[in-house]
Amino acid sequence: MSKKPVKIVTIGGGSSYTPELVEGFIKRYDELPIREFWFVDIPEGKEKLEIVGTMAKRMFEAAGKDCTVHLTLDRREALKDADFVTTQFRVGLLEARARDERIPLKHGMMGQETNGAGGMMKAFRTIPVILDIVKDMKELCPDAWLINFTNPAGMVTEAVLKYGGWEKVIGLCNVPIGQYKAAAKVLDIPEEELTFKFGGLNHLHWHRIWDNSGKERTMDVLEGLYNPEAENFSEVANIKNFKFVHEQVRNLEMLPCAYHRYYYLTDEMLKKQLEEYNGIGTRAEQVQKIEEELFELYKDPNLDHKPEQLSKRGGAYYSDAACEIISSIYNDKKQMMVVSTRNNGALDDVPYDCAVEISAYIGANGATPINFGELPSAQRGLLQVMKSMEELTIKAAATGCYDTALQAFTLNPLVTSGYGAKVLLDEMLEANKDFLPQFFKNN
Ligand code: G6P
Repeated sequence: MSKKPVKIVTIGGGSSYTPELVEGFIKRYDELPIREFWFVDIPEGKEKLEIVGTMAKRMFEAAGKDCTVHLTLDRREALKDADFVTTQFRVGLLEARARDERIPLKHGMMGQETNGAGGMMKAFRTIPVILDIVKDMKELCPDAWLINFTNPAGMVTEAVLKYGGWEKVIGLCNVPIGQYKAAAKVLDIPEEELTFKFGGLNHLHWHRIWDNSGKERTMDVLEGLYNPEAENFSEVANIKNFKFVHEQVRNLEMLPCAYHRYYYLTDEMLKKQLEEYNGIGTRAEQVQKIEEELFELYKDPNLDHKPEQLSKRGGAYYSDAACEIISSIYNDKKQMMVVSTRNNGALDDVPYDCAVEISAYIGANGATPINFGELPSAQRGLLQVMKSMEELTIKAAATGCYDTALQAFTLNPLVTSGYGAKVLLDEMLEANKDFLPQFFKNN
């Protein structure tokens, strides 16, 4: 029986990650018959869209795969009758990210894309746009799945569920992939022969590992990575691989994720960020240079495959995982993956209806999270503070309520409280005024 042809729409199609997405679909062409691919961007992204879109066409051609690629600035035209919509846009482009990093650092606080003040500000800019996309999807492709990898991916997923009233959404991140690779390296066992169980929030989850014989290997991996003698291993390209304090992490009896360094090693991470802020530039500024290099490569009419340089970006493997989710839904594979989805009681310590990042089975009905139960005190405390901060951030983003935004800033462990939080929030809102109509509606 021939399979139903699939139409995919990618919003933020001009992203430098797009070739990875295309590569992932080419790899799965036989199991997932994509016949139409629509890349959407905004006028400011037109040039990049054309460069990367033309490269995508070359990639399909070189692979001998039949797929029509459309490039458009008209989101509504693209969304009509889509089967899957993937989102990888960045409101305000990398310039906004650079401000998210530089303003808190100027005040001596962590400046990071998804953590601290920067992460909350990115949520304020992104959530109204995703809610708008969902509004269009309700009208133009009511049966489609939304696969989001726009950051902050967990908060964006929760906003879609709670404020968008849209159930068919799955959020995705590449951090677990870095953790699989780390474990496989330490144990010298192929990833596929290990079983991982993750639970927590996006960029804030813990995990446990078992081998094929059913033996738990969590502590072996922990020792192999964070024992003072162990060799440093970088799980994702954008996070400095400072070693966690051995006694503290081993007491967790689970593995932390790469982003836990912002909370468990705050001083070291902040010191490093300040050094870069005063020197080579913050991560967004470094990424701007990598992007220029990548787009120069993408312009080459002879380039028809994903270049090696893309692995310098922290988000490597993201898009491939997105393709796997789509194929798992389409083929009802019930594949186990780590995704952001509604908790539904899988994590006891946070609300039933919030988004968590967790191991789940992915099939025709979307994600079914696997029960993770209760977390020990050390994990639970941080998890609950961060979830409350996320809830407040999402509410502020969706409603434009200033007091709620200030409450989120006050609660965030990487932002100072009181008047310092207010000064920072005010300065960041003002710097983002063009992208935050919800906070300036009375002006
Ligand atoms: C990580 C995160 C992603 C994030 C990326 C940033 O791997 O999981 O959510 O987008 O890093 O990487 P960049 O190269 O943009 O700093």
